[in-house]
Amino acid sequence: MPAVASVVDEILELKQERKAILLAHHYQESEIQELADSVGDSLELARAAQKFEGDVIAFCGVWFMAETAKALNPTRTVVVPDAKASCSLVESCTAPQVAAFKQKYPDHVVVSYINTSLEVKALSDIVCTSRNAVQVVNSIPADQPILFLPDINLGNYVKKQTGRENMRIWQGACIVHATFPARRLSAARSAYPGALVASHPECPPEVLAMSDFIGSTSAIIDWCVNHPGDEFIIMTESGVEHSLKRRAPWKKFHFVPNENCNCSECPYMRLNTLEKLRDCLRTLQPEVTLSPELMEAARRPIERMLAVK
Ligand code: 13P
Ligand code: SF4
Repeated sequence: MPAVASVVDEILELKQERKAILLAHHYQESEIQELADSVGDSLELARAAQKFEGDVIAFCGVWFMAETAKALNPTRTVVVPDAKASCSLVESCTAPQVAAFKQKYPDHVVVSYINTSLEVKALSDIVCTSRNAVQVVNSIPADQPILFLPDINLGNYVKKQTGRENMRIWQGACIVHATFPARRLSAARSAYPGALVASHPECPPEVLAMSDFIGSTSAIIDWCVNHPGDEFIIMTESGVEHSLKRRAPWKKFHFVPNENCNCSECPYMRLNTLEKLRDCLRTLQPEVTLSPELMEAARRPIERMLAVK
């Protein structure tokens, strides 16, 4: 390696040495997405991790995604650039809370959004992502009471789509999507009258009601790229702009800032940087380590989800 190698060169060299794969969520900074072997939504990345046959999975996303990768492919080493890359949804719902709910309502099937800790997944009957949540709930008998956790907006969206009456919904929220104000979306629609609106289902119901399309990060990107329209307002984290611009450079994409920070970036996802990615490949730290019992218990509801068509 030359004395002053760029961080990118170092990452590429370490990746080969470590027989590593780089998986990146759409919310990662562009430089990380450029280097990744796979960029995707949480479902696509879980599938990519499951089938990887090398040694190291460098997971550029948030911790719960890396835990899922480890549970699905336990003999690989899984590292994350920054161990503090959590998620407000994970933090809103603890395993003791879910255990207490189950004790009180033992007849409820627990459907967990993938944005949960592995301990919560292990207490769940089936997992879902924003891409397949409607299909997962539809796979459960209609008369079966359900607890959907932890995202209130995704839960209400799924309840509406499936027409399920007997569905309790946890009160967790995403600090990014839940603070996208409908009034700012209205203002954006007035400013760009021909633009279509594509939203992530973690957005508030008033935002979803104004949307032309609702789906996961990858589904939003595919819909905008394949749609004959050429101007869109995007109601999700602005990291998706990278794939949107790469795949449809002639189209216009507008992002609506949220209430907290006047941006549309996830503070957890953005903790990962190129330098931290290089360091985690070099030191294999921070590593996701989980007990075999926990991984086995969590694998069942995750695999149940993966089997839903
Ligand atoms: P996707 O499953 O759509 O990638 O969403 C993950 C996420 O954390 C959304 O905020
Ligand atoms: Fe969690 Fe929201 Fe960040 Fe997604 S955007 S990782 S749901 S805090």
